[in-house]
Amino acid sequence: MAFQRQSGDPFDHLADINVTPLVDVMLVLLIIMMLIAPMLQQGVAVTLPEAGNTVAKPDTQNQTVVAIDSANQLWVNGLQFSKGEFAERVKAAYADLGATDKVLIDLGCSSHNAMWEANHLLMFKASLDWLTTGAVGGTRRGEIALGYHRVRGEGQRTRLIGRERAYHGVGFGGISVGGMTPNRKTFGAMLPGVDHLPHTHNLEKMAFTRGQPEWGAHLADELERIVALHDPSNVAAVIVEPVQGSTGVIVPPKGYLQKLRSICDKHGILLIFDEVITGFGRLGKAFAAEYFDVLPDMVTFAKGVTSATVPMGGVIVRKHVYDAFMTGPDGIELFHGYTYSGHPLAAAAGEATLALYHSEGIFENARALSPYFEEAAHSLRGAPHVVDVRNLGLMAAIEFAPRPGKPTTRAYDTFVRCFEYGLLTRISGDTIACSPPLIVNKAQIDQIFGTIGKALREID
Ligand SMILES: Cc1ncc(COP(=O)(O)O)c(C=O)c1O
Repeated sequence: MAFQRQSGDPFDHLADINVTPLVDVMLVLLIIMMLIAPMLQQGVAVTLPEAGNTVAKPDTQNQTVVAIDSANQLWVNGLQFSKGEFAERVKAAYADLGATDKVLIDLGCSSHNAMWEANHLLMFKASLDWLTTGAVGGTRRGEIALGYHRVRGEGQRTRLIGRERAYHGVGFGGISVGGMTPNRKTFGAMLPGVDHLPHTHNLEKMAFTRGQPEWGAHLADELERIVALHDPSNVAAVIVEPVQGSTGVIVPPKGYLQKLRSICDKHGILLIFDEVITGFGRLGKAFAAEYFDVLPDMVTFAKGVTSATVPMGGVIVRKHVYDAFMTGPDGIELFHGYTYSGHPLAAAAGEATLALYHSEGIFENARALSPYFEEAAHSLRGAPHVVDVRNLGLMAAIEFAPRPGKPTTRAYDTFVRCFEYGLLTRISGDTIACSPPLIVNKAQIDQIFGTIGKALREID
């Protein structure tokens, strides 16, 4: 466990251990969850409703009923447990606040006892800054990156490098580093000093790839070009989603993330993973960093930590970053924080969620089902209009040829038709992105891709 080690960066021991330190971070949380488990109510049902059961009833007139939400709307890891029972669990954890004298330093600190302890244990090796959402994490990690270089006497390192087609949330931090044109166009210059790597999606080279594409690692070399342009001494951090989600599941080419890591190492640049989507089991591991075996200097997370039941996010910071602040002139991590960071209700929801991930083997389920999910997704190769299927873990995208002069309408019509058949999907341009709840089963996977196929055969 990270907190048992006596010295050094826990992440430096990666070669010696079977799990990554990021998983250590999670294990710290999970073990604490286990310790407090008796306090929590047992027996929460973790099942998806069978087809025909009502999850959402958006139109009571014609009785449209959604049986499956294939995108876990907004990429949440969704346990989709019975809300009533989960609420009881959260209530129990929340009520515990009043029953212990260990808790509540103030609202701005992580407040529930388990989260509080986790936070403080982690402070010794990796540090965790509890926040409220993914977007807040997007801004916070930028601040930390600039602060880190400054306390080390390299305050001129201010440039941030994001990537085209990235989504990092709202706010100037997220949209500046993000690479989605519609989100950026309204806001002018945004933060100064931000560059973007090219995205890695290329239909000609990688259509219908299962898992990571063979082609495209060379695109990471663009980082060398950008860094050379500004001089490495001016570059603070590179921020990427390990798998780009919002613009339609763009899976990194083999070796690409490793290259980014080594270029960052070479030039003293921080590598930051935005794991708001990929964190907490989406690829069958706690974090994508573990899946890809690439260790970033910081990780932002949100959604999955509470299964989105209560807003919560955070930034995990490796020891060398944390130590730079603590041994710097001010000897303090950061002078300011959010009022609602580590809010007790969010902490309680986090505890309940992490306990369920652990007790129900949720990440293992995602891992075990990934090959079946891949097979089912690729069964749509050859379906009308489909120009690409791509996938990793429990993420997949089905891309359609756009209608001439009417981009996105084909995906929208597919969305509507699927909805009529009881399947909720998520579209991004002319792509349907699938990220089902991690508790999905084989029959539901069949239903998801079977319904999309049926819809495609019925639209023009
Ligand atoms: C990769 C990524 N980062 C950040 C965010 C923003 O998270 P939030 O909506 O919690 O601010 C999202 C939201 O979808 C996301 O997908």
